[in-house]
Amino acid sequence: MAGYEKPDFWTLKAKKEGYPARSVYKLEEIVAKFGLMKAGGSPAILDIGAAPGSWSLWILRKLAGAGKLAAVDIQDLGIAPPDANFTFIKGSILDEAIRARLRELGPYSLVVSDAAPSTTGNRLVDQSRSEELVESVMGLGLEVLAPGGSLVMKIFQGGEEKRLITALKGRFAQARAFKPEACRAISFETYLVATGFKR
Ligand SMILES: C[S@@+](CC[C@H](N)C(=O)[O-])C[C@H]1O[C@@H](n2cnc3c(N)ncnc32)[C@H](O)[C@@H]1O
Repeated sequence: MAGYEKPDFWTLKAKKEGYPARSVYKLEEIVAKFGLMKAGGSPAILDIGAAPGSWSLWILRKLAGAGKLAAVDIQDLGIAPPDANFTFIKGSILDEAIRARLRELGPYSLVVSDAAPSTTGNRLVDQSRSEELVESVMGLGLEVLAPGGSLVMKIFQGGEEKRLITALKGRFAQARAFKPEACRAISFETYLVATGFKR
């Protein structure tokens, strides 16, 4: 696929601005559209599937020291922010010991997940792995979010969005799917965004 070989607008912009991945602009668009990080306060945020670290770096820059960020991934980060308010935990979100540590660092006003399983190219397999991950993210989000908090989760588009959105609507004031412009045109990923968590 030639499109993947040639750096696109977003990849070049990310490089120029010091981010290891272009995915940062998806988060930027979601946060702006849904007003997820309003000025003021001292929010606690959780970034799931954080490596190589663009979302975490963007959040830390946005927080500018006023708030704290916890991040988790099975892989190492490609960034090393010298930030006292940043905690990175290496491990799987599916591992109960890791979930327990993330719970201890909460509650969070915002949980974002760009976590995605490594793809096989088989859409059905990829979709089902993504759903397992998203169910796990959602379960953790419901445990660690503070009342009024927001949840953002990546999911591969398939048959499950409607069911997940319905489930989210039962626990949040609003929930919907949103595909940022920075998503690659041929990608079948989208994001579920739920705001106004009801404890
Ligand atoms: C698309 S990348 C995230 C990019 C990141 N948001 C950034 O801006 O740099 C997806 C990440 O999900 C992570 N991931 C996949 N399964 C995971 C799991 N079970 N627990 C934690 N992280 C996981 C992968 O290791 C990968 O780093």
